Amino acid sequence: MRIGILNSGGDCPGLNAVIHGVVGAAHQLGWEVIGFRDGFEGLLPPGDFRILTPTDTIGILKLGGTILGCTNKGHFAAKVGSGDVAEVPKEIIDRAKATLDRLEIGALVVVGGDGSLTTALQLYRAGWPVVGVPKTIDNDLCATAMTFGFDSAVTTVVDGLDRLNTTAESHKRVMVLEVMGRHAGWIALWGGIAGGASVILIPEIPFDLEKVAAFIRQRDAQGHHASLVVVAEGAKMPDEGIVTLAGNCGGEVRLGGIGERVAKRLQELTGKETRATTLGHLQRGGSPTSFDRILGMRFGVMAVKLCEEKQFGRMVSYQAYHVDSVLIEEAVNQLRLVEPDSELVLAAKAVGICMGD
Ligand code: F6P
Repeated sequence: MRIGILNSGGDCPGLNAVIHGVVGAAHQLGWEVIGFRDGFEGLLPPGDFRILTPTDTIGILKLGGTILGCTNKGHFAAKVGSGDVAEVPKEIIDRAKATLDRLEIGALVVVGGDGSLTTALQLYRAGWPVVGVPKTIDNDLCATAMTFGFDSAVTTVVDGLDRLNTTAESHKRVMVLEVMGRHAGWIALWGGIAGGASVILIPEIPFDLEKVAAFIRQRDAQGHHASLVVVAEGAKMPDEGIVTLAGNCGGEVRLGGIGERVAKRLQELTGKETRATTLGHLQRGGSPTSFDRILGMRFGVMAVKLCEEKQFGRMVSYQAYHVDSVLIEEAVNQLRLVEPDSELVLAAKAVGICMGD
């Protein structure tokens, strides 16, 4: 048996851990693993790939990025915006299938987020033996309690907040940190709580900056002159909506700039010196945390098990400390968003964090 693996979409800490898990488990079964470069693009004839042996994966567990390369653009993009799905042209699917047939690939492991797994589902429905592995720092995929990469991103946010707090305390300033999270506020919420933010603004909870300013003024009056504000890139500025940058990422608009807008308005409303920092791709870079290394490795091993059992059309899933699988279509039907009345949000409010509502 020979199986293929590709990393699709944006890079994410833990991708190499998945490769490590797939190659290790496949080798135990006496299988050969072919790694396709740059996501699905590597499938286009003549095929851009490399054979992956256990020797090739020595030391990669701790590396960020991916030794295979990845892309969220190209011929296979199935997402054209939030909730929109584009059909991958049949001609492209047929050309890529010719590569799989020529290389006698018996199963293909697709590691990706919502968009890439939407593509994977189309390929499965076209008759391909596909298994999915959920990847995104945003942690917004349905049917899995967690994606790998999220824990590493949150760790970077917490480190950023710890550093910003130094200036906030020394200068009695408000420091605003813009973090990733297109549709979901998981990174902002987890990072903000763990990093000691006073205010957390997320896409799922409409916010009022007058209320945030009143909250900061009240803190000031109580002697807490420093405030950390975390805002997700996909949160909506009151009366303006989502703040975007020029260009696009994988067919979707590029987000960015809300941190500066929030900081400017809060300075006007509070009279306090307020500064904004955008964490950007620092959240996707660097070494994965130990949790993501282990989760990624387990996901890779489970993906090989699904291939062995010919359970195609399924996606590896993390459920209550246990790695299992679900149908890919359960994962891509809708995004997993923060529930405004969930226990986590209520806990944040209970310890005095302002969510802007
Ligand atoms: O989906 C993951 C993500 O990191 C989003 O949070 C962000 O909006 C997007 O990718 C950025 O993509 P790119 O690197 O293509 O700009």
